[in-house]
Amino acid sequence: MKILVTGSNGQLGTEMRNLRTAHAQHQWFFTDVAELDITDREAVNAFVRMNGIDLIVNCAAYTNVDRAEEDEPTARLINAQAVENLALTGCRIIHISTDYVFSGCESVPCREDDPVAPATAYGRTKLEGERLLLVACQEAIIFRTAWLYSPYGNNFVKTMLRLGNERDELRVVYDQIGTPTYAADLARVIMTAIEAPEWHAGIYHFTNEGVCSWYDFTIAILRMAETDCRVVPIRSEEYAYRTPRPHYSVLDKRKVKTTFGIDIPYWIDSLSECIDRLVNTID
Ligand SMILES: NC(=O)c1ccc[n+]([C@@H]2O[C@H](COP(=O)([O-])OP(=O)(O)OC[C@H]3O[C@@H](n4cnc5c(N)ncnc54)[C@H](OP(=O)(O)O)[C@@H]3O)[C@@H](O)[C@H]2O)c1
Repeated sequence: MKILVTGSNGQLGTEMRNLRTAHAQHQWFFTDVAELDITDREAVNAFVRMNGIDLIVNCAAYTNVDRAEEDEPTARLINAQAVENLALTGCRIIHISTDYVFSGCESVPCREDDPVAPATAYGRTKLEGERLLLVACQEAIIFRTAWLYSPYGNNFVKTMLRLGNERDELRVVYDQIGTPTYAADLARVIMTAIEAPEWHAGIYHFTNEGVCSWYDFTIAILRMAETDCRVVPIRSEEYAYRTPRPHYSVLDKRKVKTTFGIDIPYWIDSLSECIDRLVNTID
């Protein structure tokens, strides 16, 4: 199969690159905005036609939640209109969406068909992307994920490691509950979906197993890295968020597990693998 991975310099895109040698039966095309700007419909069509692409894994996105509040049109261009550009190529698509399509006010894990109610510009534009994709491409697979981290780019794990080394004390919210997602685990489930005997179009929820608060996550990160920094639990009101954050944002993963027959790693185990990679700078 000829597979195009867009946004491939990002966290998830880089983890997809890391899998290519283990899946060398496919012909891979990795692009980021410099090689292929997905907001450019003609360029997308030309690239797909010229290279005979069968499947697009869209890892490109506008992911800065705070900046999206100030510049929703640009976020919409990348998170929604560009997704439609990919869908209109006629390729099969695997696309990534977010827990931010939900309100974050729930108290039980969200299933794929639960009502959506995004509270942020980022969430609204990602939801529009989902909808445009599903209208234009019945063959689409969408993985909604949350709290994504990896050894690459900017993410919570790397920020806490840096701050933990710079400061004696960190104040972190304990009243926002969710589940971290190791991008390498998400990349593996994407490969499973690509290589499944049948194509299973639809929306799926994927994070690691378990739940925690950002406070618990921080404690785990710093202990694994043997960083001696005090972590103080605070409430959301004590932190000057520019954008509202979900209080409870846990995704129900039964559908992805039964459809693809996978076991999902516990968040602590995956975090430990990522910290090993970061500390030993294997990559
Ligand atoms: N990060 C999270 O916590 C999180 C949570 C839930 C869901 N997700 C979703 O998971 C997916 C992967 O996220 P990630 O953290 O891997 O994202 P990321 O690290 O921000 O990577 C996104 C990549 O897309 C590129 N890009 C931006 N505009 C583009 C364009 N017009 N054409 C082509 N490429 C473009 C970015 O380039 P620049 O860096 O130059 O802009 C970047 O390399 C996204 O769909 C995101 O919405 C992420």
